[in-house]
Formats: sequence, C-alpha cells, structure tokens
Amino acid sequence: MGKEEKVISVKKDDASKVVPAIHIKNLVKKYGKLSAVSGISLDIMPGEFFALLGPNGAGKSSTIGSLCGLVNKTSGEVRVFGSDVESDYKLARSRIGLVPQELNMDKFEKVRQVLLFNAGYFGLSGTARIARVDSLLHELGLWSKRDAKVMQLSGGMKRKLMIARALLHNPDILILDEPTAGVDVESRRSIWEYVRKLNLAGKTIFLTTHYIEEAQQLCSRIAIINNGKIIALDSKDKIMKDFGSQEIVVTLSSAIKKLSSEQFGYPVEARGKELIVRVPKGDFDYKKFLKRIIDLPVEKIEMRQTRLEDIFVKLTNTK
Ligand SMILES: Nc1ncnc2c1ncn2[C@@H]1O[C@H](COP(=O)(O)OP(=O)(O)OP(=O)(O)O)[C@@H](O)[C@H]1O
Ligand SMILES: [Mg+2]
Repeated sequence: MGKEEKVISVKKDDASKVVPAIHIKNLVKKYGKLSAVSGISLDIMPGEFFALLGPNGAGKSSTIGSLCGLVNKTSGEVRVFGSDVESDYKLARSRIGLVPQELNMDKFEKVRQVLLFNAGYFGLSGTARIARVDSLLHELGLWSKRDAKVMQLSGGMKRKLMIARALLHNPDILILDEPTAGVDVESRRSIWEYVRKLNLAGKTIFLTTHYIEEAQQLCSRIAIINNGKIIALDSKDKIMKDFGSQEIVVTLSSAIKKLSSEQFGYPVEARGKELIVRVPKGDFDYKKFLKRIIDLPVEKIEMRQTRLEDIFVKLTNTK
C-alpha cells in the first residue's frame, strides 16, 4: 500500500459526531412494477467493514447501483460522506472505488494498459500515473501478468484487476459487489487478506456477498437483505448472540434409523451418523441428556456454535 493512503479512525465516543461514510435512508428502487429495494436504511461509519448479505435477487446490486450512480433510485436519500449521490454526484463518486459484480472491461486490452488508461480518467499523469499503476500491480500480485490480455487472466486475477482499477484514485470507500463469486479458494483468501489490509489502513469497506463465510470472516457489521428489505442489521457478534445458539453434535458409529425427540428430552435432528441437538437459551440439563444417550454407540460429542448460515436460513424463512 502506498504511503499516500489516508487513515481514518473513529473513536467510539466521537462516533455520533462523525459523518457516515455511507448514509442510506428509505431507499427504494423499482424496475417497472418490481420492487428490487423496498425502503432500506443504513449508515456505515468511516473505517467500518460492512457486509450486505443476501441470496440471489435480494437487491444487493441495486443498492450498490443506487449508491454509485449506476442506477437511478426511485426514492430515498443516499449520501457519501455527506454528499448527495445525485445532486453532488462528482464529489460523492470521487470518494468511492467500485468493484462491480460483472467484468466490465475490454477483454482484448492488456492488463497494465487497462490501468494506465483508467488512471488517466482520474487526472493522474506522467510518473505519478505509472508509479500508482505499477504499485497496484505489485500489491495485487498481477505484475507478472501486466502484458497479458484481460481475457487471458483467471477469474481470480480478473477480480484483482478490477480491485486495482477501483483503487487507482485512492478512494476512502471501497465497494465490492460479490468480490469472490466464482473465484477459487486460494484467490479468495488472498483477496480477503488484501481487503482486510486496506481496511486496517483506514478504508471503509462495503461488500455484498451471499457467502456467509465471507461476511463472518471479514466484517464487523452485517445487514441481511431479502426481497429488498433488511431483515437483520447488527454487529456480527450481536447477530450470533441474538440468533445463534449452541448445538451438541453426537457422532455415532452407525446411522440412527428411528428417532424420537421425547427419547432425548429435547428436539433432535439426525443427519446420517450425527445427532444434532440445539441447546435452548437458558437451562439445559446436560446430565439428563447424557443419561439418555448413554446406550447409543457414541464415538464423539462436540459443542458447536450455530453457523451464521443457519441463522440466515432461519431469518429468511420466517420473515
Ligand atoms: N435492470 C434491471 N431490470 C429489471 N429488473 C432488474 C434489473 N436489475 C435487477 N433487477 C431485478 O431486481 C431484483 C434485485 O436484483 P439485484 O441484482 O439487485 O439482486 P442481487 O441481490 O444483487 O442478486 P445477486 O446475488 O444475484 O447478484 C431482482 O429481482 C432482479 O431480477
Ligand atoms: Mg448482485
């Protein structure tokens, strides 16, 4: 990362005085009769790492499109560091680097050329332009591919090139729309690591994903979106605390054929050789439970935190 990176840090006590990096209020986006976004509100503070998590068609890209001026919102307020994204478009847009969901660059162009060309848009010229482009190529591990055509890059490399392009003007906010969709595990890890580093250096990160693991690994706050509505918005830990619970997983030496919850005293689910018992909030009589499984061919007993994925399924099914 270049020395010129700005570091924005927010002390908790000062948070109320700080202008949000992203302010969205009652955002509505309709495509004809279809409501893609139905009145969502959220504030993302400078330096935050925020995830908008939701299934296909939930309204994630439409939200991002409204934020970056790619789509015209139907109604609502969207501000970037206080600047309205419509009336103050240029200023708002200059603070954002966007990595779109779909590849939107000339496939026949060479990697370094793409960046040099785009750097020109941001007023970079001469040695400053070359220095910025080359340092991003190095940081994102694309230096050896600088003369390859975009079409010759792997999926992960294309993503990295889009990230480099989004960072050319050193924006305060990086928005990533499904940054690792269709990217192999190794590239995914290296993208995560890089974005984490950017966040540690002060950049506000706003990503959309439908990978629970991605939100869980990276973000401090998560909004869950479904059918254009936010159905949960909180710190990752709070979401886990409110909706998550412990489960006991009992692994047996053979699959259990007949199962009755009464037998165990608690609702039990069987998945092959695994017996899964959700530990209810409050009291759980471990002794009683152990007595009930004592005659089963138990190989292993584990405690597991409910995965965010399960929480997500639960939330989207009930709302
Ligand atoms: N240009 C468009 N014209 C008409 N309908 C659209 C357009 N773009 C999106 N939609 C619809 O709006 C809804 C929300 O789409 P959006 O792309 O915002 O979802 P998403 O959460 O980004 O999904 P994904 O995870 O598949 O990228 C969907 O029903 C989609 O079909
Ligand atoms: Mg999308």
